[in-house]
Amino acid sequence: MKLQGKVAIVTGAASGIGRASAILFAKEGAMVAVVDVDTQGGAKTVEKITAQGNIAFFVKADVSRNADVRQMVEETVARWEEWTSSSTTQAWCW
Ligand SMILES: NC(=O)c1ccc[n+]([C@@H]2O[C@H](COP(=O)([O-])OP(=O)(O)OC[C@H]3O[C@@H](n4cnc5c(N)ncnc54)[C@H](O)[C@@H]3O)[C@@H](O)[C@H]2O)c1
Repeated sequence: MKLQGKVAIVTGAASGIGRASAILFAKEGAMVAVVDVDTQGGAKTVEKITAQGNIAFFVKADVSRNADVRQMVEETVARWEEWTSSSTTQAWCW
C-alpha cells in the first residue's frame, strides 16, 4: 500500500482517467476526495471505492471557480479531521 495514511484530492473523478486514478489511489490506502461537477458520476466512483472497503467521499466543485476550489480543500480537511478524530488511525498526513 503505497499511499497508506495519505489524503488524495482527485478532480474530474466522476469518470474516465479521474475515476480510475481515484480507485487506484484508494486501493493503495489513500482517503480520496472524489471531486467533480457531475454528482451522479461522482457518487458512482465513491460507491465503487467504498464497495472495496476503501475510503472516499464526494465533493461537488467546478475547478474553474476559485470559491469551489477553496470549498473543496476545506471540505477535505474537515473530512480528514473527522476521520482522524473518530478512528484509531492517527497517522494521516498530506
Ligand atoms: N494527453 C493524453 O494523452 C490524454 C489522453 C487521454 C485523455 N487526456 C485528457 O485528460 C482529461 C481527462 O480525460 P477523460 O477521458 O478521463 O475525460 P472524461 O470526460 O471521462 O472525464 C473528465 C471529468 O472531468 C469532469 N470535469 C470537467 N470539467 C470540470 C470542472 N470544471 N470541474 C470539475 N470537474 C470537471 C467531468 O465531469 C468528467 O467527469 C481530458 O482533458 C482529456 O482530453 C489526455
